[in-house]
Amino acid sequence: MGSLSFSGPVLNLKQMKYLFWVLLLVCLVSCNNEEYLPLENTLLTVEVPENFPDLVYDIEANPPTQLGFELGKKLFYDGKLSSNGFISCGFCHEQNFAFTHHGHQFSHGVDDLEGTRNTPTISNMAFFNEFAWDGATSHLDLFPIIPITNEVEMGETMTGVINKLIADSEYQQQFENAFEEGGVNAENFLKALSQFMVMMISSNSKYDKFVRNEEGGELTEVEAYGLTVFQQKCATCHATDLFTDGSFRNNGLPPNPQLNDVGRAEVSGSVNDNYKFKVPSLRNVALTAPYMHDGRFGSLESVLNFYTNGVVDSETLDDSLRKDDGLGIALSDREKEGLLAFFELLTDETFINDERFSEY
Ligand code: HEC
Ligand code: HEC
Repeated sequence: MGSLSFSGPVLNLKQMKYLFWVLLLVCLVSCNNEEYLPLENTLLTVEVPENFPDLVYDIEANPPTQLGFELGKKLFYDGKLSSNGFISCGFCHEQNFAFTHHGHQFSHGVDDLEGTRNTPTISNMAFFNEFAWDGATSHLDLFPIIPITNEVEMGETMTGVINKLIADSEYQQQFENAFEEGGVNAENFLKALSQFMVMMISSNSKYDKFVRNEEGGELTEVEAYGLTVFQQKCATCHATDLFTDGSFRNNGLPPNPQLNDVGRAEVSGSVNDNYKFKVPSLRNVALTAPYMHDGRFGSLESVLNFYTNGVVDSETLDDSLRKDDGLGIALSDREKEGLLAFFELLTDETFINDERFSEY
């Protein structure tokens, strides 16, 4: 073993002076730089669960970053986005209830005005290309403009919101840190909100564990039976592991005469689309009462009774609900019991308790 010894040349005075100045310069440059360097930002990975279809959202065009996500989350929970300063996105989209408005048939927003539609869940938005019950928007980035400018929801204007954010120095800094071209403007504002929503993936229910053969995914007899019934009788429309094929259909609800909501026809202008609504995802459905576009059913039992006894005929009723032996879907008591057990399988406790998405 060699002993420790230092045999390099010793610096003379001139070299030491030189070294001193070099070190001082390095120090000055780096110390000085620190103030100007933007905060360290990191790209977030959007992990597509193995049992999910492909992503629809264009991640390349707006790659989620840690600071963009945090900014989006702050915006999501900020009442500033509304005219009265109190109604945030999170006011109607509550995490405990898979980001729906708990206990509200219709959501009320500024001035306690009521809307006409029930608040859908926000989860797995990156896998969809049409949003709202009638598909009013086909890009997630553009969606927030609807609630912000809707007079019964947030009652603001985009200019109004952006001006409030410009006046806030903390927001200015956060925009600058989150984006390369970091101005406080509508584009970055919408991108930040999307980054937050794109990360909100719900894929850890017992059902997912079962499908992916993971621990905790063993089904009881009634759950397994419910899954089979669901696959036979419901999965044509509530398809894939998102539990929707993303189409607009009339499932035979009797139209509500007070609201006269024609659904998809409002967007397309075509009578062939009358009373068609987006097939909703059933993820976390046991948490998201009340049900249907107008929240008319308070329980899943009522939904099942509707499918067996309540379907009404009309020109746009989906063909699959019109059978030789009658309208709707026949379900025995045992099948209903199975389906109710199946619904519970879709509850994702990890998602509703995920601190990344929590207000506090
Ligand atoms: C006053 C309650 C309310 C507020 C506030 C609100 N929403 Fe919504 N949200 C709704 C309702 C109701 C719908 C369904 C709208 C429709 O179908 O016409 C909806 C639909 C959505 C959807 C579409 C979901 C889907 O599956 O198609 C997204 C995304 C969304 N909201 C995000 C937001 C964001 C972001 C904000 C804040 C900028 C926000 N919401 C504020 C009630 C609200
Ligand atoms: C023909 C397509 C179709 C079939 C088949 C179908 N559904 Fe639906 N389902 C829809 C549509 C469309 C809606 C939304 C209708 C609306 O709100 O106007 C819906 C809504 C629901 C809702 C309410 C979800 C929410 O968030 O409000 C539940 C629960 C549901 N369906 C369960 C089932 C079950 C269980 C079956 C099988 C017994 C089934 N569906 C069969 C198309 C279908």
